[in-house]
Amino acid sequence: MLRIVVLVSGGGTNLQAIIDGVNNGTITNTEIAGVISNNKNVYALERAKKHQIPNCCISSKDFESREIFNEKLLAAVDAYKPDLVVLAGFLVVIPPAMIERYRNRMINIHPSLIPSFCGKGFYGLKVHEAALARGVKVVGATVHFVDEGTDTGPILLQKAVEIQPGDTPEVLQRRVMEEAEWKILPRAIDLIANGKVSVKDGKTVIAD
Ligand code: GAR
Repeated sequence: MLRIVVLVSGGGTNLQAIIDGVNNGTITNTEIAGVISNNKNVYALERAKKHQIPNCCISSKDFESREIFNEKLLAAVDAYKPDLVVLAGFLVVIPPAMIERYRNRMINIHPSLIPSFCGKGFYGLKVHEAALARGVKVVGATVHFVDEGTDTGPILLQKAVEIQPGDTPEVLQRRVMEEAEWKILPRAIDLIANGKVSVKDGKTVIAD
């Protein structure tokens, strides 16, 4: 069984897709050991509670310095003894010590086709605003391993989504979630849980 910890900051629809995937068998061989939020009042934590998944909040507001927050966050992740850390809409800069400890064992979902619309400042709705402002015709989502850069780690899965006439950032965000994010994040976890993913020369290799 792959033990995963899911880190969240908001509504938690990607967390829900993971919970549903584990419950309906699309994600196999996987146990959600815990959910960690950096925000006390987010719906993602309610989703965890509803499904009796152990959960906690580690907020930077509760600590004197970033260093202490980083230590507490890493300790909270470690405490669940995960094989894989899943960043599902976690909008916190990952501490270097955590990147090192969980190298090739930590994945992130990003709401664009990396390397477009990614890196510093590109998160959440901002990604979709930028895509519409540029006038691209195809957008999508990416699951990647986390390394020291922002959205630079080995790419695991990507899925394209077409822009429709009249799209607003909100409408587009929802379509990217429905058509791409909620599919490729569960799929990526299932692949990892079944030993299908390896990383070679900074790229992923997926066995069939
Ligand atoms: C998702 O669209 C996810 O891709 C994005 O935040 C949203 C979280 O929604 N993540 C990033 O932008 C990371 N750079 P959710 O809380 O409903 O899963």
